[in-house]
Amino acid sequence: MRIHQSLLFVALLPCLSSGSIFNRRRQSVNNVIHFRQDGRQKPGDRQTGMQSDKPDFCNKLDCPEFTVIKNEKTYQLREYVATKWVSTNSVGISFDAAQYTDFERLFQYISGKNAKGQKIAMTAPVIDRIIPGPGPACESNFTMSFFVSPKEGQPPQPTDKTVFLSSMPKMRVYVRSFGGFASEKKWIEEAAALADALGSAAYVKDYYYTAGYNSPFQLTNRHNEIWFLAQ
Ligand SMILES: *[C@@H]1O[C@H](CO)[C@@H](O)[C@H](O)[C@H]1NC(C)=O
Repeated sequence: MRIHQSLLFVALLPCLSSGSIFNRRRQSVNNVIHFRQDGRQKPGDRQTGMQSDKPDFCNKLDCPEFTVIKNEKTYQLREYVATKWVSTNSVGISFDAAQYTDFERLFQYISGKNAKGQKIAMTAPVIDRIIPGPGPACESNFTMSFFVSPKEGQPPQPTDKTVFLSSMPKMRVYVRSFGGFASEKKWIEEAAALADALGSAAYVKDYYYTAGYNSPFQLTNRHNEIWFLAQ
């Protein structure tokens, strides 16, 4: 009961500082429902994202290659290869509004709104870096990105000024997976649970990533992840 109430409290806070997600007292993470562990992955497993051994949760879409470094009951530590992304940024109070706007911009890009008028296949995951708003203004800073498959070679330049190409270096990421439809409240709960599970592990606390793998039209077998960058 106490756990339930405190999660509710976090979700109802009008403005979240990163501290409220990352520095809360340790709670039992076993009580978080919807957690889905992919039993196929073991430390040392290499998931290319491009071959027949790509993870099931990529739904046959191209997704970034990673190696599982550590596989715990409540989280994984993965090492991703260097990756390319197409990104856009929004600042605002509403998570849903930012998601809607940013997804639309990136979807237009892959639908041909780019310097070559080129259509680009959808990939997975769609990630959103969230810098929680610290102060009374309560605006969070959202950067949504679609993965650019290495198959695309050099991706075309966006023509929308709010869309830009970006890259991420080889990186280690703490990952917590869960199923179902992820609401803003659910993302926050899962991020809090990952912070609880990691205890004193070293990771970036200024922001976190949501990673979604399914279209809104897929009703079952959905897969979502929270990412914290390891330090
Ligand atoms: C959002 O975050 C990015 C990256 O840290 C930064 O460059 C940008 O200025 C931020 N936007 C606002 C409005 O604070």
